[in-house]
Order: sequence, then C-alpha cells, then structure tokens
Amino acid sequence: MENLKIAVIPGDGIGPEVITEGIKVLEKAAELDGRIQFEFTQFPWGCEYYLEHGRMMDEDGIDRLRDFDAIFLGAVGYPGVPDHISLWDLLLRIRKEFDQYVNIRPIQLLNGAPCPLKGGNKEKIDMLFIRENSEGEYSGAGDWLFKGKPEEVVLQTGVFSRKGTERIIRYAFETAKEAGKTVTSISKANALNYSMVFWDEVFEEVSKDYPEIQTYSYLVDAAAMHMITDPERFEVVVTSNLFGDILTDVGAALAGGMGLAAGANINPERKYPSMFEPVHGSAPDIAGKGIANPLATVWSASQMFDFFGYSDIGEKLLQAIEILLEEKEVLTQDLGGIATTSEVGDRVAQILKGLF
Ligand code: NAD
Ligand code: IPM
Ligand code: MN
Repeated sequence: MENLKIAVIPGDGIGPEVITEGIKVLEKAAELDGRIQFEFTQFPWGCEYYLEHGRMMDEDGIDRLRDFDAIFLGAVGYPGVPDHISLWDLLLRIRKEFDQYVNIRPIQLLNGAPCPLKGGNKEKIDMLFIRENSEGEYSGAGDWLFKGKPEEVVLQTGVFSRKGTERIIRYAFETAKEAGKTVTSISKANALNYSMVFWDEVFEEVSKDYPEIQTYSYLVDAAAMHMITDPERFEVVVTSNLFGDILTDVGAALAGGMGLAAGANINPERKYPSMFEPVHGSAPDIAGKGIANPLATVWSASQMFDFFGYSDIGEKLLQAIEILLEEKEVLTQDLGGIATTSEVGDRVAQILKGLF
C-alpha cells in the first residue's frame, strides 16, 4: 500500500467547504481501490490567520510543506485583507517557492454540464490549458514612485526568462505528443514588443523539435473570441501566466461555470510538492451557506490521482462527476439544483462505489 502525505490548506470563504468534500472523495476512492492510504495534515492558514497573527502562514510554513507528497488547497483571499497581501503571502508564494511552473487547467464540457453556447458538447469543448505559472506578468517585480504626488508612476514588470518560457512550451508539446493533439500558443506580440515577441520566437524554436505536431498561434484578443465562436479549434493551449488566468475563466464559463473548473500546479521534476486546487476563489458572496459547488475540487482531486500515477482512479472520479451531472438530481444552485455542498460530495462518493 502506498502512503501519500497530503498537506491541506482549506483557506478562506468557500475553501474549507469544498475541500471537505474533496477529502471525502479522495478517501472514498482510495478505500475502494485499496492501493493508497492518504495521510492528511491540515494547516489553518488564510485571512483569519492573518488577522490574528499578522501573516498568512507560519514563518516556517514553506519548510513545513516541503516534505509532503502534495498540497490540496481550497481558496485564498477574503474581504478584510488586501488581496495582494493574502495572495502573495500564501497561494502565489507556494507556487513560486515550489517552482510549480506548470498550471494544468482542463476545459472540458462533461455530459450534463450546462454550456452557454448553442450546440456546445463534449467533442467541441475539450481543451487543455497549460498556463505558465512561475513568472511572466506575475513576476512580482515593479516599483511605485512618487506615491501620492502628481508625478506618481507605477511599474509592473513582466519577466520572461528563456528557461521559464522554453520549459512551459516544451511541456505543452510533450503533453500534445502523448495525446496526439495540436498545440496552440496564445500571445500578444503586436503590442507587447519585448515579452511576446520573445515568447513567439521561443515557441517557433521549440516547435521545430516536434515537426509531427500541428501548431497554431493566436493573439490573445482574437483567441478570446475564437474560444466562444469556435472552441473546437483549441486542443493543447500554452500561454503566459496572466493570459492563462483570464482565458481559463472564459473556459470555465464554457464548461459549466466556476464550480466545475479544476487546476493543478505542477513541479514536473518532483523536486517540490505540487498543489491541487480549484480555479475559483473564496466566493464571499456565497461563503458560509453550504451551497458552493465542490465538483471543481473533486476534479482537482482527480488530477492528483493522475499525478501520482493512478490515472485509472482519476478517470473514475471524472466519470462519477459526469454521472452526477447527467442524473441532475443532486446539484448545487450554480448548476440549477438545490443540493448542499456536502450532499454533492456524498453523492459523488456513493456513485464511486458503483465504479470500483
Ligand atoms: P470567485 O471565483 O471567488 O467567485 C466568482 C463568482 O463565481 C462568484 O459569483 C462566486 O459565487 C462563483 N463561484 C466561485 N466558485 C464557486 C463554486 N465552487 N460554486 C458556486 N459558485 C462559485 O472570484 P472573485 O469573487 O473574483 O474572488 C473572491 C476572492 O477569491 C478574492 O479575494 C480573490 O482574490 C480570491 N481568488 C482566489 C483564488 C484562489 O485561491 N485560487 C482564485 C480566484 C480568486
Ligand atoms: C487563479 C487565481 C489567482 C491567479 C489569483 C488569486 C492570484 O485567479 O488561480 O486563477 O491569478 O493565478
Ligand atoms: Mn484566476
């Protein structure tokens, strides 16, 4: 039996609500399968912790996370603590310190999930976003000059290193190679005359190592439109940190909403723990009501199984989500139902029983 140590950071708002269901499902799947035993350790970090201790995590927080096999995170950020503090001291810090440079975000419209597009279906909306997750527009570099003065100037610097740009593009090509898919790069070289010109050049160079793979390249504004008018053209998509952030919320809207958008922050070299978390935030508008949709978190749990080499279990989790969506009996409000967060988690666990 493999023992896997998971650090759990429920975080803020609906984070703890959805993560409870994620753990429920991870444990149920492991129990039914019999090959894995999870050991969960909870860390109470987040905005409440900040208000009490003046920081988002323990001083030695990063060191305490280092030896876990993975991190399972709910959401970070809540009114009362400025977002740039809460996010940079916890979520973004973990992504950076553990060099989780690949953010894998599937945008797949499962059967039974609502889609705002006429004729939208599973075949047409099936993309895999590979978002650069360590640098770019999120380098954190910048300056704030002459604060409050008439000559005030603010700089926010995008940093695109050769190493950082090449490795994410290569990761996308390797993923596409394995899956027999096309690769689309999304950039913006017409306006961003340093960073995106460089991005396009690196994409061109790396693509030469994969002559068998069909490639496409779009400007981000046009890509945003194509995602709505012709989503079928996207398969594996590689893009920068900020563009990936924005476009995966567009993708979420196409594939059932924020309640179904999953993500994995991966350090492919496995030098550090990878982190699994839904794409959505703490949703203060619905927090504390027990009505958040936990399926994005369950999908991220499925990605965790894939990552550990148990993609057969990951597949079963996805199947369970799809069965639940198709039967339309136990759904949260965002999907038109009246079920609570924990009722959805219970139903997923129940469906899983029939799949092993
Ligand atoms: P959000 O994703 O929290 O919410 C956007 C909308 O989607 C809201 O109407 C919310 O109710 C809905 N929604 C989100 N998740 C849902 C779910 N599981 N079930 C049902 N409905 C859901 O984005 P926001 O409101 O822009 O941000 C709120 C806070 O979360 C901010 O502090 C922001 O910085 C933070 N945030 C954190 C993360 C993260 O931790 N990964 C991601 C995004 C935003
Ligand atoms: C996401 C979130 C984060 C990001 C925020 C909360 C910093 O929006 O994971 O999509 O921009 O990466
Ligand atoms: Mn986002």
